[in-house]
Amino acid sequence: MLSHAVAALRCPVCQGRLQLREVQQRTLACEAGHLFDAAKQGYFNLLTGKGTVFEADSADMVAARHRFLDAGHYSGLSQALASAAAGPLHHPDALVLDAGTGTGHYLHAVLQMSGATGIGVDISKFALRRAARLNAQAANLVWDIWRPLPVADNAVDVVTVVFAPRNPAEFARVLRPGGSLIVVTPRPGHLAEIAARTGMLGIEEGKEERLAESMKGYFDPGVSQILDLPLLLSGQEVADLAYMGPAGHHLHRGELAELATFKGPVSTTAKFRISEFAAA
Ligand SMILES: C[S@@+](CC[C@H](N)C(=O)[O-])C[C@H]1O[C@@H](n2cnc3c(N)ncnc32)[C@H](O)[C@@H]1O
Ligand SMILES: [Zn+2]
Repeated sequence: MLSHAVAALRCPVCQGRLQLREVQQRTLACEAGHLFDAAKQGYFNLLTGKGTVFEADSADMVAARHRFLDAGHYSGLSQALASAAAGPLHHPDALVLDAGTGTGHYLHAVLQMSGATGIGVDISKFALRRAARLNAQAANLVWDIWRPLPVADNAVDVVTVVFAPRNPAEFARVLRPGGSLIVVTPRPGHLAEIAARTGMLGIEEGKEERLAESMKGYFDPGVSQILDLPLLLSGQEVADLAYMGPAGHHLHRGELAELATFKGPVSTTAKFRISEFAAA
């Protein structure tokens, strides 16, 4: 893990600075003696105390996400996000925090294009196993976005959130003045041709307004761009797409097997919005 990612981390118990200990650098420790060992795959579980009530993505959901993203269907989105993030990351110690990093797919694109250092946060250890492999130089942390982030004030240049929960107060606290928050959301009509068949929720109108509303007091709206990606998908890919998102928590194996027998290709369009916000 790169040293300025570590320098930005704070102990979740006492808020003291964390340092990497020991030759193999596999333990994060604060001065008060709170210790966090790396998992075998290299991520750190900083969640302490009672487990969260949130239902984390399962290993199978994460595997579906990995297969789908790795096939490159959303590479147009990775590139657009990385370009949007590049501006504030143009300095040697630049740091980006990816909230709900999942398999680390989008953080990887941002780090590749900018040369910045990353912090990836997710509540699913199955997701972080992959993220830690893909972004080995980043700090990959099991953490709940609804809790105060284990990150110092004003330490981060860019926060990215791709289809994941948003905690505006905490994002504002960790971002430096002049830093930016970049949020990717689906737009109405996103994957419309397959949503109905797969139990995926439709995207309601007014989502953009609600996003802007939730940022009020913390962020000012900046550039917002839309991106449409036409897709031609096999039955298996449709099943992966259904399983990798929130609907995955409710789909059963039988239903998935049935989806995978769809005779492909199915034609649909992914519709995204990339919204930038500046600290207010
Ligand atoms: C739809 S996935 C998106 C993952 C990744 N950004 C991507 O687009 O590939 C949502 C992610 O948010 C994570 N997540 C959901 N609630 C969370 C929370 N309260 N704290 C941290 N991560 C959370 C899930 O584990 C999952 O990896
Ligand atoms: Zn501590």
